[in-house]
Amino acid sequence: MTRDQRILLIIGGGVAAYKSLALIRLLARKGIKTRAILTKAGAEFVTPLSVAALTEDKVYQDLFSLTDEAEMGHIELSRQADLIVAAPATADLMAKAAQGLASDLASTALLATDKPVLMAPAMNVRMWLHPATQRNLARLKADGVRFVEPEEGPMACGEFGVGRMAEPETIAAAVEAFFSLSVTPQTLAGKRIIVTAGPTIEPLDPVRFLSNRSSGKQGYAIAESLARLGADVRLVSGPVALEAPSRVKLSLVETAREMLAACEAALPADAAVCVAAVADWRPEDPAAAKLKKDKIGAQPALALVENPDILKTLSRKGPRRPRLVIGFAAETNDVEAHAKAKIAKKGCDWIIANDVSGDVMGGDANTVMVIRGDAVDLWPPMSKTAVADRLAQAVAEALTP
Ligand code: C5P
Repeated sequence: MTRDQRILLIIGGGVAAYKSLALIRLLARKGIKTRAILTKAGAEFVTPLSVAALTEDKVYQDLFSLTDEAEMGHIELSRQADLIVAAPATADLMAKAAQGLASDLASTALLATDKPVLMAPAMNVRMWLHPATQRNLARLKADGVRFVEPEEGPMACGEFGVGRMAEPETIAAAVEAFFSLSVTPQTLAGKRIIVTAGPTIEPLDPVRFLSNRSSGKQGYAIAESLARLGADVRLVSGPVALEAPSRVKLSLVETAREMLAACEAALPADAAVCVAAVADWRPEDPAAAKLKKDKIGAQPALALVENPDILKTLSRKGPRRPRLVIGFAAETNDVEAHAKAKIAKKGCDWIIANDVSGDVMGGDANTVMVIRGDAVDLWPPMSKTAVADRLAQAVAEALTP
C-alpha cells in the first residue's frame, strides 16, 4: 500500500454516520487520506468539527458555497480522490445516484466523478427491502458502483432486520482491497484464466431440469477482479441473472458437460478458478418431449448418471494442466477438514471454503477460509467483491515468478 491513497467520503444522514468517524481513523492508520462531504442530513448526526478534526481537512457541505467553489470547484472535488465512498449511503442518496440527480453537493459529486464509487448503505429494514431501493441498488450495481452490503441486526429505530451499515472494519477492508488491487499494475497481463460460475442445469425433458442453487455473484466478481488486473478471463457460466462483467470473454452454457467442453476449449490457461455449482448428476435419458403425468403413472422413475467433475478434470496432471487450479467448497460443518480432504480428492492447488450454514447463498457477503496446501487463512467477513479482489491479488502473486 502506498501512502498517498485518497478517498472522498460522503457522509449521509443516518445514525450510522458516527461509524464513519471510526472509518476515517481506520483508513488513516492504513495511510489512506480522507476528504469529506457532509450532507445536510449527515450534519444532524455528526458535527463538521469532528469530521474536520479526524480528516485534518476542510469539510465540504454546500453546492453553492462561494468560498468552497473558489478554493476547489465541486467537479475537481469529485475527481481528486482515487475512490468515492458513500457511508452511510442513505435510501435518498442511493435514489438520487440511481436517477442521476444533482440536487446537492453529494449527488453532484457522484454524478460528476470519473472515479469508482463504493457505497455502504444504511437504512431501516423496510426502506432497504422496498422494491424502489432494491431497484436502485440493481441500477447502481449495473452502473459499476461497488457495495458493502448492510448487515442484519437490531436497528436504531427499534426494528430488527437488514439495513444496519456494515462495521467500519468491514468497509475499511473493502477500501483496502480496492486499493491493493488498483495500485498494482496489470500483474495478470498476458495470463489466461478460466473461471466457472453459476449453476448448471440438467434437463429431464424440454421443460424440466435438475439444478443447484447458485446466483453466480461470487464467480462473476472474481472474473471481474481478475480482468481488472489485466488477465484474459474466460468466464464459463451457467444460467444466472447477472450482466457479463466488462473485459471478460463469456461462454454461456447450460449443462455440466457443456461447461467442461467450454473450459477445455479455453485451454491452455495459466489458472482456473472453479466457482460453479455444478450438478453432480444428470438424468440419464432426458425425454425428447414433455413428460405427461397421465402417461408415466404416479411417479416417474428418475435414473441419474454422474456428471464429469470439471475441477477434477482440470486438475489432472499433464501438459495442459493450468499452473494454478482453485476450487470452492461450500460446507456446513468441519469446514477446514472437509476442505483439506477436497484438495486431495480433486487434485487442485487451493480451496476457498465457506460455511453456508448461514445466509451466503444469493447474498452479497461471504466469510471464507483459504487453504493453500497446509496453510490456512481465515479472511474476515467481507463482501463478495472484496473476496474477489483479494483472491485476484493472491492469484497474481502466485502466478508471478
Ligand atoms: O465436490 P464439490 O461439489 O463439493 O466440490 C466443489 C468444487 O468442485 C467447486 O469448485 C466446484 O466448482 C467444483 N465442481 C466441478 N464439477 C463438478 C462438481 C464440482 O467443477 N461436477
